[in-house]
Order: sequence, then structure tokens, then C-alpha cells
Amino acid sequence: MKFLELAKNRYSVRSFEPKKVESEKLDLILEAGRIAPTASNRQPQRILVIESEKGLDMIKECTRYHFNAPVILIVCYDQSISWKRPMDGDDAGIVDASIVTTHMMLQTAELGLGSTWVAHFNPEKVRELFKLENHIEPVALLPIGYLASNSQPNPRHYERQDIKETVFYNSF
Ligand SMILES: Cc1cc2nc3c(=O)[nH]c(=O)nc-3n(C[C@H](O)[C@H](O)[C@H](O)COP(=O)(O)O)c2cc1C
Repeated sequence: MKFLELAKNRYSVRSFEPKKVESEKLDLILEAGRIAPTASNRQPQRILVIESEKGLDMIKECTRYHFNAPVILIVCYDQSISWKRPMDGDDAGIVDASIVTTHMMLQTAELGLGSTWVAHFNPEKVRELFKLENHIEPVALLPIGYLASNSQPNPRHYERQDIKETVFYNSF
């Protein structure tokens, strides 16, 4: 599949089969995250793979957007090693973790699996339940699994602005 076709076909999947994701497929998804570019190549991403019943129950205490997925990734970054812009101290960690998450989301789609980026979670609860150290910042949850037979894109998937609304050619 051509890249743009893959990117257009991907949509947020919020309804999954209970079927487990095979470890070979999960490994490919994690590999897509491993090779993602990061600021100054610091590779500050730290990814927790949650597959056990207990872990998945714990996730349910942190967000209502778990969709009963059979595997959920907690994508974090280590702020003790993420790159900080010297001019203003801006921390690239969230951007790095976001690129990693995007790589994994697209690899997931390429495998015919589904995922949804979830930002709506209680970070303090994640920190407490999954015993994150203070310098580890959770950025995204990524529920992954086989699409339920009734899975459909939300209407918002089709609402994209015209390119003229978001791209500006400078005329200086
Ligand atoms: C940074 C980010 C945070 C998001 N958080 C959530 C979330 O917490 N819950 C949810 O159901 N979807 C979440 N989404 C999915 C978006 O709602 C979705 O990508 C958007 O509506 C476009 O739909 P599509 O992904 O099907 O094309 C998030 C997406 C992004 C990029």
C-alpha cells in the first residue's frame, strides 16, 4: 500500500475483538517506535506494554478510553534525558514520544490492526498504579487490537480541513 493510502485509510479504532495480538506483530509495532527520529537522537521514549488482565484492569482505572483492547501501550518519555532547547529550555520529550506513537500507530494500521491515540487519561493515576519514576512522563495510551466486525470510522475521521486552511506559502 502506498504511504498516503495507508495514512488516509487509518482511522481511530474504538471497538476490538478480544483476540490477542501475536507477539510477532507487536514486535513489529514496537520496532516502528524504536527507529523513530527523536531530538538530538536522545531516544527518551519509554514504552510499557500492558497485556495482562491485571494490567488492563489497572488501565481502566486511569481512562475510560481503553475500548477493552487486548493490549495497551503506555508511551512515556524520560525527561532526565530528553533534549531541551538551549534558547528557552523547551523540552522535546512530548514531541519525541508523539513521533514514536505515530510511527507505531501507522505500523499497526499497516498490519491490518487498529489503534486509537488516547490523551484523555489521569496521569497521576498512571504514575501511581504503574509505579513510574518522577522523571518518566506519560504522554499517550495506545490501545491496539483486531478490529471488531462492526468497527467503523467516527464521522470526524472524514472531517479534514482544506489544505488552504492549514498550509501557507510565504510571499516575502
Ligand atoms: C493527541 C491526540 C489525542 C487523542 N485523544 C483521544 C482520546 O483520549 N480518546 C479518543 O477516543 N480519541 C482520541 N484521539 C483520537 C482523535 O479524536 C481522532 O484522531 C480524530 O477525531 C480524527 O479521527 P481519526 O483518527 O479516526 O481520523 C486523540 C488523537 C490525538 C492525535
